[in-house]
Amino acid sequence: MNTFDEIVAADRRVEPRDDMPDGYRRTMVRQIAQHAHSEIIGMQPEGDWITRAPSLRRKAILLAKVQDEAGHGLYLYSAAETLGVERTDLTERLISGRQKYSSIFNYPALSYADVGVIGWLVDGAAICNQVPLCRSSYGPYARAMIRICKEESFHQRQGYELLMTMMRGTRAQQEAVQNAVDRWWWPSLMMFGPPDADSPNTAQSMAWKIKRHTNDELRQRFVDMTVPQADRLGVRLPDPELRWNAERGHHDFGTPDWDELRRVISGGGHCNAERIERRRAAHENGAWVREAAEAYAAKHGRERRA
Ligand code: 3HC
Repeated sequence: MNTFDEIVAADRRVEPRDDMPDGYRRTMVRQIAQHAHSEIIGMQPEGDWITRAPSLRRKAILLAKVQDEAGHGLYLYSAAETLGVERTDLTERLISGRQKYSSIFNYPALSYADVGVIGWLVDGAAICNQVPLCRSSYGPYARAMIRICKEESFHQRQGYELLMTMMRGTRAQQEAVQNAVDRWWWPSLMMFGPPDADSPNTAQSMAWKIKRHTNDELRQRFVDMTVPQADRLGVRLPDPELRWNAERGHHDFGTPDWDELRRVISGGGHCNAERIERRRAAHENGAWVREAAEAYAAKHGRERRA
């Protein structure tokens, strides 16, 4: 029977029944739960555009994407439950502000172009962050990531294709895309977390192989991936310091507003109150479904035992 340290050192998976340090368990509950919360809250900005999609095809694509996000949340709550927590308790922690969700979802989706930019930039950032998590040391989390990443690729491509179409459209459509890029670029960089020097969790998460790359490394990977895509799209990324650095083999870019990230994380974003209020209302309005399912399970469970 290998010890936790031997499992991690051998790059193998820690499974629910393995002994693990309390801190590792706490960190995994924290990260998986907040990831799940982000997926569920993330349904709101785009969900508002389903009824206003410009065609049946766009409506069907957006419905599929928002439905995927709900599924991602459920896979991740299931992964969290392998650590001995209950999803209802995690939902209460989210609603009461004792657990976080990604800052990115506290920005408003103001136009239909935002739906494309969210797919391209937000889901693109998610892919950069989540592909390495397929190799995270906690087994249930890493396995949930594999299916989530496949679906994220569809999310990113549908967004980029939507923008390609709009950029071949009218001047007004092109301006709407550029306006959305200007609003979502910097918040997308903040999705990767604070700079490594200000990240209290990164060093330990790297040592436990929960994270395979640091916040800054993944942010850099996202910038390097996105710049050529922006060029092909014909949009300008709103960063005057953005340029290729041949010496580094990466793009240099400006510094995100870390005060803004801190403010949004602590509840001061455009949509924080609305997002939580809608999540609370959905949880309360759905209580009767949970009660009916529990009553059904209890009744039929009794019949099966009889
Ligand atoms: N939004 C909200 N909170 C953030 C944040 C952000 N963008 N970046 C960092 N934080 C929080 C952290 O949660 C931590 O607070 P906590 O200790 O109370 O949890 C604190 O700020 C310090 O940050 P650290 O970098 O030290 O924390 P982590 O090591 O946990 O790194 C992370 C933060 C990179 C987000 C990491 O938790 C992670 O990779 N999580 C899994 C992926 C994830 O949750 N992505 C969120 C987006 S979901 C998504 O993309 C859905 C897709 O469909 C669009």
